[in-house]
Amino acid sequence: MSFDLTKYLDTRRALVDGALERVLPSEDAVPVTLHRAMRYSVLAPGKRLRPTLVIAGAEAVGGAGDAVLDTACALELIHAYSLIHDDLPAMDDDDFRRGRLTNHKVFGEAMAILAGDALLTLAFRLVADNAARLSDPRLIARVVADVADAAGTDGMVGGQVIDIESEGKDVGPDTLEYIHRHKTAALIRVSLTAGATLAGGRAEPVASIGRAGEALGLAFQIVDDILDVEGSLAELGKTAGSDVRKKKATYPAYHGLEASRAKARMLIEETKRHLEPVGPAAEPIRALADFVFQRRS
Ligand code: IPE
Ligand code: IPE
Ligand code: MG
Ligand code: MG
Ligand code: MG
Repeated sequence: MSFDLTKYLDTRRALVDGALERVLPSEDAVPVTLHRAMRYSVLAPGKRLRPTLVIAGAEAVGGAGDAVLDTACALELIHAYSLIHDDLPAMDDDDFRRGRLTNHKVFGEAMAILAGDALLTLAFRLVADNAARLSDPRLIARVVADVADAAGTDGMVGGQVIDIESEGKDVGPDTLEYIHRHKTAALIRVSLTAGATLAGGRAEPVASIGRAGEALGLAFQIVDDILDVEGSLAELGKTAGSDVRKKKATYPAYHGLEASRAKARMLIEETKRHLEPVGPAAEPIRALADFVFQRRS
């Protein structure tokens, strides 16, 4: 019997969406504008890939999604903050995100910056809150450190810096890979390992899941680059062609579309190879890996 990914995604997304609705500050509470800006971007229709990976990481080592839901939300909040800031005029200067106007287009740049700041801060509050669901709350310390590393200078923020500094330049394949591993793969990898760690996974399966997450994350950004060339605003919910306009260092720009597709396919196979020792409980992650390659949005 093959794994029903649509059903899996629907149930996990519903779980995450319900939790996000609860953890985000109310639009009635002061400062109202900030809370509206936070909810506007987070509750917009995203794929919820990172929180789903937190849950899938927990399930892969025998845990339950409910027990890691706070951390799943935290990863989505960090991701949403990174998108709000990524779209700012000072960065990629994009007008559409998740099928709606970008945060700064609606709320202004100051509020978009502050909404990002508040989402990042709330995320770590949620990881701390997750302690209440664990039999060993000491695991929280490790996850806080891992998430901070993945989001910070040696992770997403570091990748964004080199991405910006590489605009309009002829960077080589190593710099390109550095950008993608840091700006995107780091958060995808830590989504899986945070879930697996909090669920009490032993060191070896968590390490295998981390290697799988790294390969999956690099594949994810290569496919994002390909979709920026081949997709449309209607499919993506964001403006296609943005990378060429900004002269970004991307896989299609450097390697061409065909080789980029082949590289992404190879990385999906690599993801599955790393998951072999984890066994049948990693089936949702394998299905998510296929989804990452086949997606059109
Ligand atoms: C977009 O991520 C930003 C990248 C890291 C490429 P997603 O494609 O996961 O965006 P949402 O969450 O579905 O909006
Ligand atoms: C963004 O990469 C990665 C982030 C850390 C947000 P992109 O700039 O390619 O993401 P999109 O295409 O705007 O979603
Ligand atoms: Mg960018
Ligand atoms: Mg961008
Ligand atoms: Mg992109």
